[in-house]
Amino acid sequence: MNHEGVINRYRQWMDLPEGVEPVTLLEGNTPLIPVPALADELGGNFDLYIKFEGLNPTGSFKDRGMTAAITMAKAKGAKSVICASTGNTAASAAAYARRAGMRAIVLIPDGKVALGKLAGAIAYGAEVIQIPGSFDEALAFVVEISQKSDVELVNSLNPYRLEGQKTAAFEICDTLGKAPDWLCLPVGNAGNITSYWMGFTQYHAVKQSGLPQILGVQAAGSAPLVLGHAVDHPETVATAIRIGNPARGEEALNAAEKSGGRIIAVTDEEILAAQTLLASNGIWVEPASAAGIAGLKAQIAAGQIDPHGKKIVAVCTGHGMKDPDIITSRMTKPTLVPANFDAISAFIQGGK
Ligand code: F0G
Repeated sequence: MNHEGVINRYRQWMDLPEGVEPVTLLEGNTPLIPVPALADELGGNFDLYIKFEGLNPTGSFKDRGMTAAITMAKAKGAKSVICASTGNTAASAAAYARRAGMRAIVLIPDGKVALGKLAGAIAYGAEVIQIPGSFDEALAFVVEISQKSDVELVNSLNPYRLEGQKTAAFEICDTLGKAPDWLCLPVGNAGNITSYWMGFTQYHAVKQSGLPQILGVQAAGSAPLVLGHAVDHPETVATAIRIGNPARGEEALNAAEKSGGRIIAVTDEEILAAQTLLASNGIWVEPASAAGIAGLKAQIAAGQIDPHGKKIVAVCTGHGMKDPDIITSRMTKPTLVPANFDAISAFIQGGK
């Protein structure tokens, strides 16, 4: 349909100065994939869609925000950008900054970044610094560095990140003709839930597109917004959302409350089971990205969400290829069969 990038597509809805030249990789315009078999599995009789943000240029939703943040950094004449990251922001910042001829400096928590993200950051040419600490500590350092030098911060504290990310809400309304009844998504540093709520309310004010109830989902070991206090040592298999003190926590709680929704926690087991469910519908996402479906499943099972007759969208934020280890570390090795027709045939027959 359109391949122009989110700034060119939605510029009149974005708070960006006139005339800035977008730094874009033609991000956005991701598919809203119907998953009727998955809806059946979760209780049936409703329309369920996956907004597959893993199909953005660097494999996650971060590209929507990064096109705006890097466009503005370039317009200001910045030579370097910096971010803290659990991995996806790092890869995205690196791709867009390098495309604009800038240095990309990324701080990551030592040993806790999935392989596909680290490889991406390095492939795009980021300067990667690991610290023996959490994402939250890394974020505090990069904020201080950006305040004390002319390095531009591109975490979602940067308001242009939200300007870009809210375009996903516009796309969902444009595709469905209105907002869904529920939007389910993972919550880490809470920039994305804040952006979606901004996008839906902005569109609704002008187009009467309606407002979804929002279900934000954290991992049980990293659920500060559910517990009501920061978590010093967050843990979860969903490393993307291994965050104990979300920068936009207040805004996330506000979005959930104003929308008539809520923020809940799911266990790592529920997250991995949802990842498997999605994959059996042809959609492979990284663990954090399955949290929305895990949360929806739990809420339906507990009678907290009645899905019947509703339109529900789950946002799958990052591609499964970002975190291959989570699959390969648990898989049984493929059987080695002699390289001849009879042996392969016999093996296939036996497998039936
Ligand atoms: N899903 C994925 C795949 C993510 O990478 C993130 C955040 C989230 C969900 C949560 O979004 O932070 O806006 O609430 N990743 C950040 C990063 C923290 O550094 O890549 P959020």
